[in-house]
This record gives sequence, C-alpha cells and structure tokens, in this order.
Amino acid sequence: MSTPNLRIRSGHPDFLDLPWEKSLTEWDHPRRLHLPKGISRHEVRFFGYDTGVYAVKEISARTALHEFEILRRLEEIEAPSVVPVGVVERPWIDENDEQSGAVITEYLRHAFSYRELLSGPGFGGRRNQMLDAFALLLVELHLLGCYWGDCSLSNVLYHYDADQIAVTMVDAETAELVPRLSKGRREDDLAIMVENVAGGMADIAASRDLDLDHADLALGEDIADRYRNLWVELTHDEVIPVDERFRINERILRINDLGFEVEDLHLTAEDGGHRLRIGVTVGGRTFHQHRLRALTGVEASDEQSRQILNDLSHYRANREELSPEIAAIRWRAEQFEPMMASLRSLGDLRTVDPVQAYCDFLHHRYLLSAGLGRDVPNDEAFEQWVEEGQPGYPI
Ligand SMILES: Nc1ncnc2c1ncn2[C@@H]1O[C@H](COP(=O)(O)OP(=O)(O)O)[C@@H](O)[C@H]1O
Ligand SMILES: [Mg+2]
Repeated sequence: MSTPNLRIRSGHPDFLDLPWEKSLTEWDHPRRLHLPKGISRHEVRFFGYDTGVYAVKEISARTALHEFEILRRLEEIEAPSVVPVGVVERPWIDENDEQSGAVITEYLRHAFSYRELLSGPGFGGRRNQMLDAFALLLVELHLLGCYWGDCSLSNVLYHYDADQIAVTMVDAETAELVPRLSKGRREDDLAIMVENVAGGMADIAASRDLDLDHADLALGEDIADRYRNLWVELTHDEVIPVDERFRINERILRINDLGFEVEDLHLTAEDGGHRLRIGVTVGGRTFHQHRLRALTGVEASDEQSRQILNDLSHYRANREELSPEIAAIRWRAEQFEPMMASLRSLGDLRTVDPVQAYCDFLHHRYLLSAGLGRDVPNDEAFEQWVEEGQPGYPI
C-alpha cells in the first residue's frame, strides 16, 4: 500500500484527501488553485481549504524534513520566512529521490514576485525600496544566525508593507541556523546572492529578447553594497567620551528606527576610563511590531506597525490626560476597529489586505491634512478616499 507519512501542525487540515500516491505533477484535484508563482526547480502547487490556501512543494523526503525544521525554527525567532505547516514522506520511494517527500507551507498572501515588480510601471521609483528591502532581509537573517545558501530573486516574495516593500524568504532548502554567523559565511552567502541575482537578471533579459548587455548584471552587487552599509550601521562598535553617554541612547534609537531590537549593550572603559566603547547585539526586526502588539494587540508587520504607532501617537497628542494603556484601548475601539470595518465594507482592491489598507489610508489622511494645512478627521478623509476610488497600491 502506498500510504504516506504526514506530519501536520495542529490547526490545519490533515491533507489526507490529496492523492499522495501519485506525483504532484499528476494531481488534478478540485482543491487546486492556479495562482502565479516564481521560477522553481521543484513542482509547487497551491490548494484551497477552509483554513486557508497552502503551497505544496515536492522534494526529497530528506530535504523536506530539513526545510520544515528550519522554517519552524525561523518562525520561532520571528524571521521573515514562509510559515511551515507540514512535511510528507512517501516511504515507498528512496528518501533521496526528488519525489519522495513534500513540504506544505501557508500560502503567502498579497505577495508578488520580482518579475511582477520589475515589470510594473512604478518600478523606477520603487527600485531603491526593493533593493533596500532585499538587503534588509539578508541582514536580518544573518543577525538571527541564518545562513541561506541560496538567496536569489526567485526565492523571495515581495509585498507592500506600509509605504515600503518587504521581502519574505520562501525557499529554505539550503538554509542553516547557527548561534552566530561568521564574517566568512556571511560573505559566502553574499557571493551566492550576487551570482544568483545576475542569473535572474540574465533570464529576464532573455525572456524579453534582449541581449546580455541590456541585463542589469550588477544588481546583486548593488544589493551587496546596501547590505554592507546596513550591517556596519547596525553592528559597529562606537567609542565615545565618558560624559557623552546620551550617545548610547541615540545609537539605540537609530537601531530601533530601522526596526531592529537591541538585545545587549556591551560597554568597555578605554583610555583610562575617559572613553567608553559601546558594542551592540542586535536581534530581529520586530521592534515596532512588538511594541504595537504589546500596546494594542494589533498584529502587523514591523513597518506597518511603525506607521500605526504614529497614528496612535497622533491620537494621544490631543488626549494627554490618558495613560498610554488607556489611550491604546480607546484608540483601538474608537479609531482602528471602526476604520477597519469601513475599509472591509469597501469590498474592492483596497480591502484585500485590511491592515495594509489602513496604512494606505493613514498615508492618504496625512497627504490630505498636509495639503489643507489642518488635521483632517478620519470620517472626512475616508469619504474623500472612497470618492477617489484609486486602489491603494501604487504600482
Ligand atoms: N508559501 C508560499 N506562498 C506563496 N508562494 C509560494 C510559497 N511557496 C512557494 N511559492 C512559490 O513557488 C515558487 C517556488 O518555490 P521554492 O520554495 O523556491 O521552490 P524551489 O525549490 O523549486 O525553488 C516560489 O518562487 C514562489 O513563487
Ligand atoms: Mg527556489
């Protein structure tokens, strides 16, 4: 009997209705959804259930187990990677055979591939954001001790994140987690990325019938430069006069401003006690996310959280008599939830991702207020937003 071994995390379907006895390439299943996807070595297909949409990737059982475990650990440390749901083994096939296993992940909603991003008319203006976001993902993974081994344009997915673009890791087959990544391994990872990105750009040129001279083969180098600048900004040691300790706070604020948590400060006296060397251990990019969650219970990405926290500060500015906790509860009840309900009721493109829609709305309200030179209340801004009828997504 060809019965598979399935290990599925709780809260998800058992996936036993899928025809595991056959290869994924032969599945013609009513649950199958035809959704766009990037270039892949392995067969990846999407299936819809009541609990959500899932991606099934067929790979060797050995690699499947490794990828599942790594993605679980990445989730635990809140790395920006797809969420693993299950791992499947077909015990009647050798575990190294490419069809002996599968990994199931939660389908990453509202995402798009770099091909869509590059071909969108807004790419010129968004180019910097996209490259920064890509570099930021690699910095974050490295800070968390993750060596990727196959960082490329098609192993990530992009999505709008407040007014930025965020990047999520989708392919962790080759990834490893260590307590601390050495400089050598980080450089190896960067070299792989540079080569992969050049390959991706060459593919794009070929698919548009352009010759290689027109391919942006240096794009990976550009990302690597951005990575190195960020890495230095986040991790360098600073030496300060002992009576300028306010600089420690400034440094922490700068790191937090990039969204990263400061886990430890290392202070060493130098120069006979006249100077201090400050080193920092930087954690994940969850600073605003954790703050927003702790204050209001609202779940959003770090960049979205930053923008929503600004909205909360704006709300508090006229209500100084309220404690931060009470203000947060009232803001949620009086501002956030009603606006989320209004946004959902629009039932158009803007409501696909309500938290993102809320951020787009905040941006709209800000532009309106700046234009009119006065604070525009939510109701008025919303009315105008509905009239405009533009999707919130700028590409
Ligand atoms: N959880 C997911 N959500 C959305 N898309 C996904 C997901 N997993 C995979 N994909 C899509 O499938 C493509 C291939 O997945 P990947 O893990 O890179 O497989 P491969 O090992 O074949 O390269 C990705 O580029 C992405 O477009
Ligand atoms: Mg891949």
